Amino acid sequence: MLEIGTKAESRIPSAEHTMAADSTDRRIDKLIHLLVKNATVVVPGPKIASEIGVTRLKVWQWIERLRSLGVQIRGVTGEGYQLVTVPEILAPSLLRADLGDHPMARNIIHYFRTDSTNAVAMKLAAEGAPHGTVVVAEEQTAGRGRLGHVWYSEKSNGIYASILLRPPLSPAAAPVLTLMAGLAAQKAVSSATGLMADIRWPNDLLVNEKKVCGILTEMTAELDCLHAVVLGIGINVNHSLMPAELENIATSLRMEAHRSISRVQVLVALLRELERHYQLLLKSGNRAITERWEAVSSFAHGKRIRVATASGEALVTTTGIDPSGALKVQYDDGRRESLVAGEVMEVK
Ligand code: BTN
Repeated sequence: MLEIGTKAESRIPSAEHTMAADSTDRRIDKLIHLLVKNATVVVPGPKIASEIGVTRLKVWQWIERLRSLGVQIRGVTGEGYQLVTVPEILAPSLLRADLGDHPMARNIIHYFRTDSTNAVAMKLAAEGAPHGTVVVAEEQTAGRGRLGHVWYSEKSNGIYASILLRPPLSPAAAPVLTLMAGLAAQKAVSSATGLMADIRWPNDLLVNEKKVCGILTEMTAELDCLHAVVLGIGINVNHSLMPAELENIATSLRMEAHRSISRVQVLVALLRELERHYQLLLKSGNRAITERWEAVSSFAHGKRIRVATASGEALVTTTGIDPSGALKVQYDDGRRESLVAGEVMEVK
């Protein structure tokens, strides 16, 4: 279930905010903020340029870049620029407008395009980035899935986010952190869209039996100490169709809700729910998470599944989640086991 980093890193996390190479220029975020703040008026190009500290040519280039991502900006010759609609871009300033001083809004690092937000977050973790660092991208060129799969990361239509946690817990808590992330994602999807997703162990979200969200947990640890956990969360939000090879097993929130969905609202809800469930885990312990997980997943009890593990495939029936986060199953010959890793598929 866990993808464990190969190197145990032992740096003490620094409190200062870490910047990542090639991340979005903070002045683009300022540009977005300025346009949003002045949404009712045309903002002159020279005013934008002087307020964010770049040339007018740069302003024009960045406006073009935002337009290429679907942000509607009206250009009035000789006058300036005006936002037509609220931008659907996961810019830190837009997320912070909703989140304020939320613990998960203090160090948001945005990319227009990166290979994998998990790869970036793991690197930042090794460099000492603080708890609560969020890496988010409009597009991934090498999105990583569980068990070596690739995560389809269509530009501007999905949420590709990695959240760095530094839990005061032992590596044994990692499976429960994984369940916690699924629970938080499920709550976020339902509060932002009204869709009730099922959770397939350990943490795939399914709507109408197709996957809308996958979570890859990676970590660096020593024997008795977790240094960093990266929760990599991919949500199919506004895809209007899935590629042929995925269409039978994956869907998007938009395809299920039959309307376009605000990625900003879903991500804001996700960060809030993650913090809420993380605090619940720290204060009330594993059972608070596993019991809630059992209450909202149809996979917890009595589900006939095919499970693929390193030792092969088997048909089993689920009998609950144990306090460590493992999936309890019963084989047809009556044997019982707790699974800590594996790929689960429902059998009808
Ligand atoms: C799965 O296989 O279900 C897990 C998919 C996890 C995808 C997300 S997208 C954001 C983060 N960055 C990655 O490279 N992977 C995760």
